[in-house]
Amino acid sequence: MSADWPYPFWIAHRGAGKLAPENTAAAFHLGHRLGWRMAECDVKLSADGVPFLLHDDTLERTTSGHGPAAARSWAELSRLDAGAWHSPAHAGQPLMALDQLAAWSQEAATELNLEIKPCPGREAETGRVVAQAAQRLWAGRRPPLLSSFQPDALAAAREAAPDLPRALLIDTAWPGWLDAARGPLACVAMVAHAPLIDAALAAQVHGAGLRLLAYTVNDAAQARRLLELGVSGLISDEVRRFDPAAGAAVVERAAPSPD
Ligand code: G3P
Ligand code: MG
Repeated sequence: MSADWPYPFWIAHRGAGKLAPENTAAAFHLGHRLGWRMAECDVKLSADGVPFLLHDDTLERTTSGHGPAAARSWAELSRLDAGAWHSPAHAGQPLMALDQLAAWSQEAATELNLEIKPCPGREAETGRVVAQAAQRLWAGRRPPLLSSFQPDALAAAREAAPDLPRALLIDTAWPGWLDAARGPLACVAMVAHAPLIDAALAAQVHGAGLRLLAYTVNDAAQARRLLELGVSGLISDEVRRFDPAAGAAVVERAAPSPD
């Protein structure tokens, strides 16, 4: 953390989304119990425009529902089981709305990276609604970092809430990515797929005055390599292995902590 980058170095991917059902309260609570003070999650819109947490466009993999998530109202989505797919102990775990996450994050003093994950065709609408909601829900405290693979979503977020920090996510170095990030999207950071990051890419990002974060980093050697390249944050599934209390350092815990 520093004055111009106030977020923790270690960020729990989808909450603690491997050990507990991703993007649910159970995952955020587990990450918090293990000392993690920042979480990444995926935000999209229900049919009636409610921002809620889900990674996939469809419901099958992580819920008891079927078909496109964008076709269901929040009332319908909120009745689904989003935990049984993971393990019997988490059966009955519901999907989480963004306002529920915001309330929990305040109680738990946890920072967030909201990945805007629009269903196809809803890029600008999702960016706008998530940014407006984040501005309202985090009023008076440090805002979440908004990120997206979709430039249209970030452009709409900028228009709706220009003061919220934005990051462009990339999994390939598509033509014009850096110009888009620092120009029309006015990002403060890039979040890149870890294997894409080498010394040249890190120098480009830092030379443009942006921070660089990496996903999804589960290997200690990879984490150390990225730290040497000057990254400001690592998004990881390995909430038991890495000790986030170390800050910007890679420290593996001596023994696994209990759930
Ligand atoms: O935000 C970083 C990472 O979550 C992006 O990939 O597919 O896990 O949402 P994905
Ligand atoms: Mg994500």
